[in-house]
Amino acid sequence: MNSRISEHLNRELNLQINKEFYSSYLYLAMTDYFNKEHLYGFAHWCKKQSEEELSHGMSVFEFLNELNGNIEFMQILQPQTNFQSPIETLKAIVMHEEHITQSLKEITVMAKEENAFAIMSFLKDMLNEQHEEEKNAFKIYSKYKLFGENKAALYLLDKELSER
Ligand SMILES: [Fe+2]
Ligand SMILES: [Fe+2]
Repeated sequence: MNSRISEHLNRELNLQINKEFYSSYLYLAMTDYFNKEHLYGFAHWCKKQSEEELSHGMSVFEFLNELNGNIEFMQILQPQTNFQSPIETLKAIVMHEEHITQSLKEITVMAKEENAFAIMSFLKDMLNEQHEEEKNAFKIYSKYKLFGENKAALYLLDKELSER
């Protein structure tokens, strides 16, 4: 049966699957980092996020399947592992999420050019979720920036994140 997606958008969604799985891998590397720093709440938050990213990759995969698209199994890059400090790691999270948002926006523009409404609607849902992720990541980064140097406050922030 014919594919219901252009080659161009098919390629972009394959890249997006790869980016989501890479994100999952990156958050797993951060989980490991925070565990080694004994910030177990931060580690827990990152592990949950890693699972979220896997589910994003899966939903793009399933969507592409529904459109009879072609799935390419691209190599997933090795994530960064040499995190220098908690604040640098949290900043890397914010920047990474901004990068993913940008990627989804670019695909949305391409879908719009092709009047691919089903794909636009799918991407809109993903972008809504991205908005939440960016917001949450920025909140954690900001809280650490404000209170991270205070041990008692850091303890509470770590505890808060362990409840995700
Ligand atoms: Fe994601
Ligand atoms: Fe994300």
